[in-house]
Amino acid sequence: MAKKILILPGDGIGPEIVAEARKVLDLVNEQFNLGLEMQEALVGGAAIDATGIPLPAETLEAAQAADAILLGAVGGPQWDTNPDFQIRPEKGLLGIRANLGLFGNLRPAILYPQLAHASTLKPEVVSGLDILIVRELTGGIYFGQPRGYRTKEGGVREGFNTYVYDENEIRRIGRVAFEAARARNKKLCSVDKANVLEVTVLWREVMNELSAEYPDVELSHMYVDNAAMQLVRAPKQFDVIVTGNMFGDILSDAAAMLTGSIGMLPSASLDANNKGMYEPCHGSAPDIAGQGIANPLATILSAAMMLRYSLGEGAAADKIEAAVSQVLDQGLRTGDIMSEGMQRVGTAEMGDAVVAALRA
Ligand code: NAD
Ligand code: IPM
Ligand code: MN
Repeated sequence: MAKKILILPGDGIGPEIVAEARKVLDLVNEQFNLGLEMQEALVGGAAIDATGIPLPAETLEAAQAADAILLGAVGGPQWDTNPDFQIRPEKGLLGIRANLGLFGNLRPAILYPQLAHASTLKPEVVSGLDILIVRELTGGIYFGQPRGYRTKEGGVREGFNTYVYDENEIRRIGRVAFEAARARNKKLCSVDKANVLEVTVLWREVMNELSAEYPDVELSHMYVDNAAMQLVRAPKQFDVIVTGNMFGDILSDAAAMLTGSIGMLPSASLDANNKGMYEPCHGSAPDIAGQGIANPLATILSAAMMLRYSLGEGAAADKIEAAVSQVLDQGLRTGDIMSEGMQRVGTAEMGDAVVAALRA
């Protein structure tokens, strides 16, 4: 049966990098006879400009009907000053995550050996790096109520958000992380701020309770400030990290840099049945948008994750990942992963090289 893929290019470099992932998907669709049907829709700033809102009903319906979704990125300075917080590009992305119940965000930080010198860290610190950040994606301070921005009596402005998780939300992301650790090196580090925040006291309790069901997985706990430091000091001590929405957002950008560039980090956002949305961890990079120089590999690798997790097409995913490795072997580099002696290429050339490697 045909599988429906919804493609959401979004803003900034989004359309540029998604176009390259699309070339790759179209080719493996043909090579592996996958029966993928691709459809595009508007989200984020592009949707605001066309319809007035970041997540048009039509896009949400298409997302609900799709077997999987591939997203570029949303956001940009031209939409950052809208006083109505609902009319922000980022709300489109958050709306899809929330409406589809995509609570399980997997962000694998893997260093391709060819890029050991592209990282700003010493090669010996990062070589062989393979960690997985499991980030809770539909709760925590991103969604907690009450929230708001208001002017108090006397004209003093205040903004407020609520950091809240109930035990069920913690347990379901905990299970995702324990299962992932079980399938890997059986080490799980739960990151919290249980020395200060009650919500993460509960987080730690629930992780400890779950650990009884996973005796084969070694559970440890770390405060988020220390975790940020340890990720840069000695990242290979980690196997799987599990944490809440905001800490996971921040730590995954830090982890991205261990792999050479944020342009290398893909992600999967999954519901309880492995339906998902796939996107690079980076944003719309307004500073380089329209120049044809963005790295499309995180998006191409996100397409590979989509094939593996939501479509059960592991062989096609493996082939894409091998093709990415081959183009790195050939010495091709976008600016963000450039190092001495390598050949600088643009977004489309990089995509074309992956396609050529897939055809070879
Ligand atoms: P960003 O990730 O867009 O950019 C940070 C830096 O990394 C920039 O210097 C950028 O040029 C560089 N970079 C990012 N992706 C790259 C790539 N593929 N190749 C080469 N370089 C790359 O973060 P930001 O500047 O903080 O945010 C810009 C906009 O993106 C904001 O509106 C933000 O809300 C949005 N954003 C969206 C998502 C998403 O859609 N998932 C994620 C993060 C940020
Ligand atoms: C990400 C982004 C988003 C987040 C923003 C754009 C809403 O930074 O996917 O990492 O904070 O989750
Ligand atoms: Mn982020």
